[in-house]
Amino acid sequence: MTLPATYLQMQSTVTEGAQLRMELVEKPFPTPEPHEVVIQVEATPINPSDQGVMFGWSNMANASSSGDGTKTVLTAPVTPQGMGVMKARIGQNLPVGNEGAGVVVAAGDSPEAQALMGKTVAALSGTMYAQYACVPAMSCLPLLPEHSAKDGASCFVNPLTALSMVETMKLEGHTALVHTAAASNLGQMLNKICQADGVELVNIVRREEQVKILKDLGAKYIVNSSSDNFMKDLTDAIHATGATLAFDATGGGELASHILTAMEAAAARTPGAYSIYGSIKHKQVYLYGALDVSPTVLTRGYGMAWGVGGWLLPNFLAKIGMEAGNKLRMRVAKELKTTFSSHYTDELSLAQALDSDIVARYFAKMTGEKFLICPQKDI
Ligand SMILES: NC(=O)c1ccc[n+]([C@@H]2O[C@H](COP(=O)([O-])OP(=O)(O)OC[C@H]3O[C@@H](n4cnc5c(N)ncnc54)[C@H](OP(=O)(O)O)[C@@H]3O)[C@@H](O)[C@H]2O)c1
Repeated sequence: MTLPATYLQMQSTVTEGAQLRMELVEKPFPTPEPHEVVIQVEATPINPSDQGVMFGWSNMANASSSGDGTKTVLTAPVTPQGMGVMKARIGQNLPVGNEGAGVVVAAGDSPEAQALMGKTVAALSGTMYAQYACVPAMSCLPLLPEHSAKDGASCFVNPLTALSMVETMKLEGHTALVHTAAASNLGQMLNKICQADGVELVNIVRREEQVKILKDLGAKYIVNSSSDNFMKDLTDAIHATGATLAFDATGGGELASHILTAMEAAAARTPGAYSIYGSIKHKQVYLYGALDVSPTVLTRGYGMAWGVGGWLLPNFLAKIGMEAGNKLRMRVAKELKTTFSSHYTDELSLAQALDSDIVARYFAKMTGEKFLICPQKDI
């Protein structure tokens, strides 16, 4: 195979002049270090976490694009508040794309890199929105022969996070889970995992259509935060399951507080569960997403045995170590077309992903709307 001298990589920059600028930058084809491989990227999804790097705190309602093909440029204004939050990245040209899959077309001299030559692999790296990505061989997951790069594009971020939620539950001594924005791509995976593993899961959604999606998946406990009965339904579901751990993808507003309130009310139904400081069992909410960017509001009416904290997949994987992490990765590889399958609304070229009309569609992060970038597609 003849390899090109250069390739295109998407980059995102917040300029000193308070503007977000995203474009395709031509880079020299990389020479892999002994432990590295070069992947010809065929498919890479747009997840909320990628959008964090792409757009940060820019005012995307006023985004616009200019030029076309390889010269497409997306810009958006950044407010003074946004500039403050993004201070550390001003002037840096950041590559984007947390995960993706493709064929290994060049490899360093080490045996582990050479072993991947010609294989279709998925990889976790921050540089996948590009025609090629140079990554450590260790960060690659070879796909089974029956799986394509598109099947494996979303192998890491959502599958490993959903699996790690259940692992966190076990490690921290909880027995059931609450999850918000629960009809998300990740939420649907979590439902399949919990049903297969016998873990009770309380799903919080905000629309009736989402209730139906999860019912069709076989979910037992689904509560709608838009319903007048939300707090009662949530308390009933938490009481029935005994859930004392929640993962909240919204992050902002009062949802985390409502969950803790419901956990406390559910505990109050069990005689003897109380002390003067509230219920004894520790109740924890992890804010693992920021779908609601408003401040987090905690009303604190739930005693003293509770916690609210951040949760991030790479930190959790580092905590459990390589062997435990590999077990999770192996499960993902085996169940790629079942538990961990993702469905995509549209396939985009790198340039299309910078078109402001298309950006508006994927920026909405709507249920069932997941986009895939195919960097080998004609620009
Ligand atoms: N911390 C980590 O390590 C980690 C790792 C992976 C993923 N994540 C997080 O996991 C979450 C889900 O990712 P995904 O790829 O599965 O998302 P997705 O498929 O794009 O779905 C997003 C879901 O969130 C809902 N939603 C959006 N804004 C909302 C709001 N303000 N309040 C309530 N629901 C809202 C949408 O419902 P509507 O249709 O009603 O808008 C949709 O169901 C994201 O927040 C992502 O950042 C975190």
